[in-house]
Amino acid sequence: MYDFLYQVHVGTWIILLVFVVLNMFYRSTILKMLFRLCSIFMLGSGVGLALHMSFPIIFIVKLILALLLIGLTEMVLKKENPREESFLLILISGLFFLLVLIGFGIIRF
Ligand code: HEM
Repeated sequence: MYDFLYQVHVGTWIILLVFVVLNMFYRSTILKMLFRLCSIFMLGSGVGLALHMSFPIIFIVKLILALLLIGLTEMVLKKENPREESFLLILISGLFFLLVLIGFGIIRF
């Protein structure tokens, strides 16, 4: 089970990134749905993996950051012109970067 969740998690993060970027350039309901589907896979597999490790603090932080990332992305996608929301876009990029660093174990505590 761990291996399965790991493969899903590892396979989804780059796809999620691609959908976040695509959504900034093209307004399409299908793209939004795919972004949400990927977010659910990412969160579900992440929580499953963390449960296997008895949920250390770092993954509680990671969960909060991931929910923030998804919420902010949804907020940006609601805007008339998402690419003009520079502050939110920088915040989203920073959060994504942090999540990947935590994922690879570069940031740990
Ligand atoms: C958008 C959100 C997320 C991104 C971009 C992300 C990214 C990553 C990446 C890049 C890895 C490393 C994969 C590898 O070793 O090749 C990883 C692993 C992992 N992530 Fe996530 N993740 C996200 C959400 C979450 C959430 C919400 C949780 C759980 C609360 C979580 C828990 C884990 C765990 C437990 C691992 C395995 C770490 C290990 O094997 O040492 N992730 N994540």
